[in-house]
Amino acid sequence: ISFSGDYSKLITPETTQKITTISEQMNARTSAGAEFLGWKNWPSEIDSELVARLQQTAEKIQKQADVLVVIGIGGSYLGAKAVLEALRQPFKTNEKVEIIFAGHLVSGAYLKNLMNYLDSKEVAVNVISKSGKTTEPAIAFRFLQDYMEKRYGAEAAERIYVTTDAEKGALLDVAKEKEYARFVVPDDIGGRYSVFTSVGLLPIAAAGYSIQNLLAGAKRAEEELAEVSLETNPAIQYAVIRNHLYASGYPVEISAIFEERLKFIQEWWKQLFGESEGKEGKGIFPASVVYSTDLHSLGQYVQDGKRMLFETFLKVASVEEDITMQLADNDSDELNYLAGKTLHEVNDAVQQATAEAHLSGGVPLVTLEIPDFSEDTLGYLLYFYMISCAYSAYLLEINPFDQPGVEEYKVNMFRLLNKPGF
Ligand code: PA5
Repeated sequence: ISFSGDYSKLITPETTQKITTISEQMNARTSAGAEFLGWKNWPSEIDSELVARLQQTAEKIQKQADVLVVIGIGGSYLGAKAVLEALRQPFKTNEKVEIIFAGHLVSGAYLKNLMNYLDSKEVAVNVISKSGKTTEPAIAFRFLQDYMEKRYGAEAAERIYVTTDAEKGALLDVAKEKEYARFVVPDDIGGRYSVFTSVGLLPIAAAGYSIQNLLAGAKRAEEELAEVSLETNPAIQYAVIRNHLYASGYPVEISAIFEERLKFIQEWWKQLFGESEGKEGKGIFPASVVYSTDLHSLGQYVQDGKRMLFETFLKVASVEEDITMQLADNDSDELNYLAGKTLHEVNDAVQQATAEAHLSGGVPLVTLEIPDFSEDTLGYLLYFYMISCAYSAYLLEINPFDQPGVEEYKVNMFRLLNKPGF
């Protein structure tokens, strides 16, 4: 992590005291929402038998299906989506099973065309809902369960996997009645903190990626980022910098990436921070851009618009594949000055040039750099964001683990759709 301001000035006795208190209260499970801190030690405590069962189930899915439809929304969707998109190399279909998401939106065309697409494939379904009653995924599951039963008959039960609460919810009742294979969303882990549970791990393993390496990265982060230090812990530094900028008149954070495959890491990050912090009239609004694409779009606003933004670059130090600019006989495009440079080097120049430009336009800059796109790195990064988000929300005196604001639209929707009781 690096910061365009003078970070050393943020290491004050007052902030150090606040961070120490937050850490102590989290460890003692006395902080606000502490009953949802199960994710904090999860990477080191996850049961190896669960990991083995997830791996075996993934291998079964790989044998029985070409496509795994993963039904879920919010935290029951974005973690797996983010990791899968970041691991997938552009234009390569190196996954053992194609993963398609559903239930994250309400669209008849989406579901209808999806079912048409599935007709020529072997299919399995993983329906994920902690509460077991979220309307959007429940609608998608109603259609896809019916599709599976019509198509596979009794064998459908062998192809449907349910990830939900251990003890309650409509989805649990269906799973028991139909004898679907079941995985549990732990009681003490909320949706947006659940990527390292079966919620994220089953789809990622089914695609053929290493959940062992993902968890190893998360475990390393858990160990390293447990240190209560404003000087050396980057997760604490990120939380402190964000809160300093927020208090200094920058209520909007824009995550900027330069490799498109990190786009859903941004979406996951937006949910994590937005849903954790945006309460009680407070919170940094998390937004995202993809550069260079958005340098020719929102870049104008970032450079010259209302001064309320700070930017966080998420950079990747090395890429697996690259190409080098060559000398052309005819330099009609006037690009020969780039000859010998790799596109990663050109992209580095884009990053540096953008940083300089936006800084001179009054946009403070935080930079996070990850080494590569491996499972281990992504595990580290996601855990980094989760622990940092907890510190950040607590610095704002917000409970990071509830989401009371998402209920209001649901009540209105139920009333508009004449749900009994509304
Ligand atoms: O982070 C959260 O808790 C939410 O985004 C939930 O994940 C989302 O609302 C889906 O809930 P459920 O898994 O109960 O269907």
